[in-house]
Amino acid sequence: MVRLPFLSSTRGVPEAAEVPRHIAIIMDGNGRWARKRLMPRVAGHAKGVDSLREVIRTCLDRGVEYLTVFAFSSENWRRPKDEVSFLMQLFIKSLKSELERIHRNHIRLRVVGDLAPFDEALVNLIHEGEALTAGNTRMNLSICANYGGRWDILQAMRKMAAEAPGQTEAWSEESLAGHLALNFAPEPDLFIRTGGEQRVSNFLLWQLAYSELYFTDKLWPEFGEAALDEAIASYQSRERRFGRTSEQLVSDPAGPAAPDHA
Ligand code: IPE
Ligand code: IPE
Ligand code: MG
Repeated sequence: MVRLPFLSSTRGVPEAAEVPRHIAIIMDGNGRWARKRLMPRVAGHAKGVDSLREVIRTCLDRGVEYLTVFAFSSENWRRPKDEVSFLMQLFIKSLKSELERIHRNHIRLRVVGDLAPFDEALVNLIHEGEALTAGNTRMNLSICANYGGRWDILQAMRKMAAEAPGQTEAWSEESLAGHLALNFAPEPDLFIRTGGEQRVSNFLLWQLAYSELYFTDKLWPEFGEAALDEAIASYQSRERRFGRTSEQLVSDPAGPAAPDHA
């Protein structure tokens, strides 16, 4: 059985730090940013890489330990062929150009999702990048590509069934969480979606149970250091109760924990 390194938010009260330990971002609004400037949609994707670079740097500066970004969803294959192919090329190009900087900054890179449909060249590049940075501990950068929250839960269940056939009674929230693609990370403290839409679009369905949600109308290519600081400030103004009352937070900040129900 895989043991979770972190406390699950539905099974206990996770430690909440001043700076979010884990930030998860849906980088949305690239197409609209470009169309507003009478440019092709894909110009927005290219510009979005600059935003990501700035956000990574800001997260490093602020001491964020885990940054997880949604780059391509399992539903994005429904887009026009040309746009999908541009995105794949951009992914390859950006991995090549940014990897050295990522490594230099002691960041561990992971690409999370079902890599099976990707070109061999891209998959090789991903494996190279992951291997190169595997020993880095300053920050964990996870790029979700061909990722879907439902896919993730299903693949976790399949793994559990294969490991211990017929023993579904022994399954727990922890064992499921331990088989998810992001099993190395605590649940996100702060979820950010740019681009004005207020939906989760099949991102980290399991792990968002108690994340603080932050939506901004800013389009992803306009998002950077100042905008991220605003999101962090909003996070810092929230009261994270994890099911308890405000009064309990003052009198008994650490407990009581939820009963063992699963
Ligand atoms: C997000 O920007 C990037 C990806 C989904 C790959 P969009 O391309 O969705 O931009 P909008 O939402 O159409 O403006
Ligand atoms: C979500 O954005 C996926 C990524 C940012 C990679 P979309 O633009 O695809 O989401 P919907 O379709 O508007 O929900
Ligand atoms: Mg979009």
